[in-house]
Amino acid sequence: MLTHTKIFLLFLVTLFSFVPFPTPAPSSGPEYTANGQLKLPENYREWVYLSTGFDMSYSPAMQGMDHHMFDNVFVNPESYKYFVENGTWPDKTMLVLEVRGAEGKGSINQKGNYQGTERMGLEVHVKDEARFPGKWAFFGFDDNKTAEMVPVKAQCYSCHSANGAVDTTFVQFYPTMLPIAKSKGTLSSSYQKEAAGSK
Ligand code: HEC
Repeated sequence: MLTHTKIFLLFLVTLFSFVPFPTPAPSSGPEYTANGQLKLPENYREWVYLSTGFDMSYSPAMQGMDHHMFDNVFVNPESYKYFVENGTWPDKTMLVLEVRGAEGKGSINQKGNYQGTERMGLEVHVKDEARFPGKWAFFGFDDNKTAEMVPVKAQCYSCHSANGAVDTTFVQFYPTMLPIAKSKGTLSSSYQKEAAGSK
């Protein structure tokens, strides 16, 4: 027999099965403060992983480093999917370079290196065509949650635009992206020349 309580419970169950559960749609595009600083994309560790560089050295200042370093590269998922289909980055792409120190001996590890828990740097490369004259801009975060844009005169821009294999990004070092760019024919002409010359 249905008691009042049972009927009430049944009513509640029915009610809640029709209430849409609010799922916040996390946008992974860039967000800025009122004064034009980039907000730290806090969830970048849930993005798509592209690669890890180990002790890569491409600027004189980094030579003669007395400790080993890793850098991990992540991209927002929407832009990753777009790249897989098109071989290029869409507007609102964000690439994150996270720097970590290398640890040697620890726990059972005797040889080789693993990554330390302390983040030593975080740099973001953002494509925002309407906002930046050069379409892309760099931001370097220290411990703050917001960062100012790196001035356009900085070497970041010249090295990336001269040497990045796809649209100022270093796709030649991202092992799953390079074959896609190759097959879609989106590699920069300077990179293609370099690659042809080094064979
Ligand atoms: C002399 C060349 C050079 C300069 C200068 C340089 N970079 Fe890069 N950058 C690279 C290379 C090479 C990679 C690929 C790293 C890897 O494979 O792990 C890279 C990767 C990156 C990435 C990952 C996304 C991408 O574009 O491929 C970010 C973000 C980044 N650099 C930020 C910066 C910032 C910020 C500066 C300036 C403060 C800077 N870079 C200066 C060579 C350079």
